[in-house]
Amino acid sequence: MTRTRYFVASTLDGFIATDDHSLDWLVTRDLGPDKGGDLSYDAFIADIGAIAMGAATYEWLLRHHGDEPWFYSQPCWVFTHRDLPLRDGADLRLTRAPVPEVHAEMTAAAGEKDIWVVGGGDLAGQFHDAGLLDEVLISVAPLTIGSGQPLLPRHVELRIVDSRVAGEFVTTRYEVVRPK
Ligand SMILES: NC(=O)c1ccc[n+]([C@@H]2O[C@H](COP(=O)([O-])OP(=O)(O)OC[C@H]3O[C@@H](n4cnc5c(N)ncnc54)[C@H](OP(=O)(O)O)[C@@H]3O)[C@@H](O)[C@H]2O)c1
Repeated sequence: MTRTRYFVASTLDGFIATDDHSLDWLVTRDLGPDKGGDLSYDAFIADIGAIAMGAATYEWLLRHHGDEPWFYSQPCWVFTHRDLPLRDGADLRLTRAPVPEVHAEMTAAAGEKDIWVVGGGDLAGQFHDAGLLDEVLISVAPLTIGSGQPLLPRHVELRIVDSRVAGEFVTTRYEVVRPK
């Protein structure tokens, strides 16, 4: 069954980007020889059939990787109220539809595979608000930055499923505990 998963890297104090949307604190860090094995990005992305991200995350990708081919072969829904530029050869769908409606489309597109909510944290929170977030995977880097874009600005109860150290990161997989 398709799971909806939020996989993200965070600082120790719970931020996924700086106030001005920099990821310089993240992109140079060492992931270790096996990059996290079962909890690595490579293992994760192999199970993903549909992707969701917010406008700021998409704009970061355009700013930093705009000259490269689009990363993802999976269809990608970008939540935005704006007419953002698209990328040739990428299956990108700009949307402002309600999260449950988009989630239903994503589930159909994912088939047997899972859905990845890339971020930001509030978008993952919107999936949780709708009762549609199943799993959170967080790779915590060894630094604090004091302020920035929040990891998951909600009260979300989680149960640890697995955890491991990979290079400079501690990655933990949690399942979302749904209210009874
Ligand atoms: N550390 C990591 O692993 C990681 C992972 C992902 C992202 N990031 C970074 O974290 C930052 C996240 O930025 P962010 O917190 O601002 O989040 P974001 O989710 O990327 O972008 C927020 C924007 O998405 C649009 N949006 C959100 N929900 C919507 C909805 N229901 N309907 C329509 N549009 C909606 C709005 O844009 P408009 O109204 O302006 O169109 C909103 O201002 C970025 O810098 C990104 O690069 C880091």
